[in-house]
Amino acid sequence: MTDRYAKSRQLYERATRSIAAGVNSGIRKMEQPVPLYFQRGEGPRVWDVDGNEYIDFQIGQGALLYGHAPAGMAEAVAKQAGLGTHWAAQSELEIDVAERLQAMIPSAELVRFNNSATEVVMSALRLARGHTGKPLILKFEGSYHGWSDEGLVGYAPPPDKWGDDEAPTKIHPSQGVIPEVLDTFVVARWNDPDHLRRIVAKHSGQIAAIIFEPIICNTCCLEPVPGMIETIRELCDSEGMLMIADETITGFRFGPGGAQQYLGFVPDLTILGKAIGGGVPFAALVGKQSAMKKIIEGSVIHAGTLNGNPLCLAASKWCLDHVLSLGAAHPQASNDLGQKLMKGLRELADRHGIPLRPQGPGLVFHSVMLKPGAEEGPIRDYRDYAKRQDGARWTHLRRCLLDDGVRAIERGLWFISLAHREEDIDEALQKAENSFARHASEWKAP
Ligand SMILES: Cc1ncc(COP(=O)(O)O)c(C=O)c1O
Repeated sequence: MTDRYAKSRQLYERATRSIAAGVNSGIRKMEQPVPLYFQRGEGPRVWDVDGNEYIDFQIGQGALLYGHAPAGMAEAVAKQAGLGTHWAAQSELEIDVAERLQAMIPSAELVRFNNSATEVVMSALRLARGHTGKPLILKFEGSYHGWSDEGLVGYAPPPDKWGDDEAPTKIHPSQGVIPEVLDTFVVARWNDPDHLRRIVAKHSGQIAAIIFEPIICNTCCLEPVPGMIETIRELCDSEGMLMIADETITGFRFGPGGAQQYLGFVPDLTILGKAIGGGVPFAALVGKQSAMKKIIEGSVIHAGTLNGNPLCLAASKWCLDHVLSLGAAHPQASNDLGQKLMKGLRELADRHGIPLRPQGPGLVFHSVMLKPGAEEGPIRDYRDYAKRQDGARWTHLRRCLLDDGVRAIERGLWFISLAHREEDIDEALQKAENSFARHASEWKAP
């Protein structure tokens, strides 16, 4: 039998001799049967070095909201590359992009640029501590806010280390972290407003900010229960804490104003990444003028050699104009496509006796594979997810889908880009028919 991933396997083997672990971001090692090597992308499709074509729902871990290689963006970037990629100084382009952000996002009174959302999270947390003079940051269990010491606190803790429901243990998934970092965090469970009130009361006067993903896309697409976001806003106001929305994934995907517009709330600071650059390294901290005061004064330091470089700005300007050009159709059109895909996957799962339960708004969703005997119904928080999700079984189904040319994210997430069309969803579901049948016949619980 021919190996459809032969060239990727050869390149990966070669890469392990020059690149540590063969990949440049740890998560990429998860891809089964081998980390894939790509050579071309167009719209919602991507081709690997073995010539396999995929309908892509991984879509650059969500950065490619506009699909692969959108024509206008390539021209904008090429034109800027010919004029200069980096001046470490000012350009009119940076004002153009900042003004667009102000127009799109009501809470974006002022803007600062970086090159990754990880950096922006670090800036936002430093700014919050500087602004309030308080030492602690509250975050939600299971949330990912980038890979810095701070961003990873409380990410994916193993069940035997959770601690009790009322006081989740602060754990870090990485070695080598500054030990005191854990002392600067308070971890709360998501989607339990009363629990949040109790945690905040316990640390009253000590918390500088609450940071949260408005829809926790990195962990099972956990939409907020009614009252959750309102409680965060109310507590931030009453306790003098900053409300920091991490919209790295939701920004622009949920419309020009992101999840804050979609769900109807106004944070003090917002983290923007991924779709703001459409696949180039670009990110931004945006927020209320009052919250940005320490950066304006220069008493909280924010810096970076490549911040606001014209190459990334040219890409971002194109991306933002593209989002604006969609008008009222966005995000409803992508949500409809996503919901069609979710419904189709669920029907396939039911037909083949597979316990797959797609969960999420549509334009982004998570395919939860339930463990044998696990409770039905929506998953509300990280603990619930960790208890019910059968990771090994999902990995097997994901591999079957990949072999049939449908590419979802290794951990179960699916993104709909603005380049996906109804025909792509129909084709993905046709291909998935074979993948689900194969999975049902091959899968044996370990
Ligand atoms: C919610 C959230 N915040 C922050 C980050 C970090 O973004 P970056 O990888 O651009 O540093 C990510 C990346 O996946 C994310 O999903």
